[in-house]
Amino acid sequence: MGKKVLFLRVLLLALPLVAETVPTAGKEVGVYELKRGNFSVKFTHYGARMVSLVLPDRNGNLADIVLGYDTVDKYKNDSAYFGAIVGRVANRIGGAQFTLNGEHYKLVANERNNTLHGGRRGFSDVVWTVKSYEPDSYITFTYDSYDGEQGFPGDLSVSVTFLLIETNKLGIKMEAKALKKATPVNLALHTYWNLGGHNSGNILSHEIQLFASRITPVDSQLIPTGQISDIKGSAYDFLQPRDIGSQINKLPAGYDINYVLDGHGHEHLNKVAVLREKMSGREMELWSNQVGVQFYTGNYLDNVKGKGGFVYSNHSGLCLETQGFPDSVNHPNFPSQIINPGETYKHVMIFRFTA
Ligand SMILES: *[C@@H]1O[C@H](CO)[C@@H](O)[C@H](O)[C@H]1NC(C)=O
Ligand SMILES: *[C@@H]1O[C@H](CO)[C@@H](O)[C@H](O)[C@H]1NC(C)=O
Ligand SMILES: *[C@@H]1O[C@H](CO)[C@@H](O)[C@H](O)[C@H]1NC(C)=O
Ligand SMILES: *[C@@H]1O[C@H](CO)[C@@H](O)[C@H](O)[C@H]1NC(C)=O
Repeated sequence: MGKKVLFLRVLLLALPLVAETVPTAGKEVGVYELKRGNFSVKFTHYGARMVSLVLPDRNGNLADIVLGYDTVDKYKNDSAYFGAIVGRVANRIGGAQFTLNGEHYKLVANERNNTLHGGRRGFSDVVWTVKSYEPDSYITFTYDSYDGEQGFPGDLSVSVTFLLIETNKLGIKMEAKALKKATPVNLALHTYWNLGGHNSGNILSHEIQLFASRITPVDSQLIPTGQISDIKGSAYDFLQPRDIGSQINKLPAGYDINYVLDGHGHEHLNKVAVLREKMSGREMELWSNQVGVQFYTGNYLDNVKGKGGFVYSNHSGLCLETQGFPDSVNHPNFPSQIINPGETYKHVMIFRFTA
């Protein structure tokens, strides 16, 4: 509890203290680095994407532990959402539609008849503005989403800040303010992790612990059925740490499911997951204020040519996307994602890396 509160305070208090500098780069697509010692994270404002994260292993050897491409241009033709901030509503909305305050909204469908990660041109595929940038500390991206964008209601003012905390933590604060109309909002960071290095092979021997006893089961199109199911003792159960690959063959295609986090969301930061890679000794802890986390084992990576020509395939990386539950707009029993005019959505993630 003390630790959680401390992380949150550090993140929230640190922001107003640093001076704002607005680079002259304007809307050009570029790369921005946050660096402290041997810990370096790079971003681009195309999709507010995290394009690399380099840090030492237990012997001091550096590796880039996130999947991606060598050039910003390649992200423009990416269908894996490498490192992106996805939205306006991350994950799937069944039938690409919903009703809110008596109004029916038809969205752009981009996966069969459903909307995935905000539509054909979601927040992962727009150019964000660099609002402020301090290379040894933080970067803030903003995006003004318009009424009707991909079918969503109302103007929405979005900001995402990535912040270095000490020498081994990365904080992320996502905010979105609805201006004139109520709208669903669900942002997520879609980074693919491989703690052995992006080019080290698959993540099946990573050990993971997920602090969740339930999932929201899905149909054949990965749309939630609306049930919330207990997973204790099943192949989904990672309450005790174990290798990701240990029971993956019991599933039809690997993990791609929303876990209902045991701690309650919104007010406090809760521990979401601990990920370990034994060869490098790298460990990543994730804390968040969200109610769910999509655990995805890169099941659809299909020989994607990535950094240094390395080819990513099934399970080359894994995603831990903290967020609200998928398709919440169509399931009244799920926690609401509706942000009313004047309200601000807030999503905090803290990653702590050790080796
Ligand atoms: C960075 O890594 C190198 C090589 O392992 C090491 O010699 C150096 O001390 C490290 N620097 C910092 C600031 O940790
Ligand atoms: C874009 O991606 C598709 C596969 O998703 C690939 O076939 C095509 O060659 C890519 N285009 C460029 C310009 O890289
Ligand atoms: C999409 O919707 C149309 C019309 O409702 C339906 O005929 C079709 O089967 C649906 N396709 C899929 C893949 O669900
Ligand atoms: C990916 O691996 C899983 C098992 O972990 C398997 O069920 C699935 O068919 C594989 N997908 C592809 C496209 O090979």
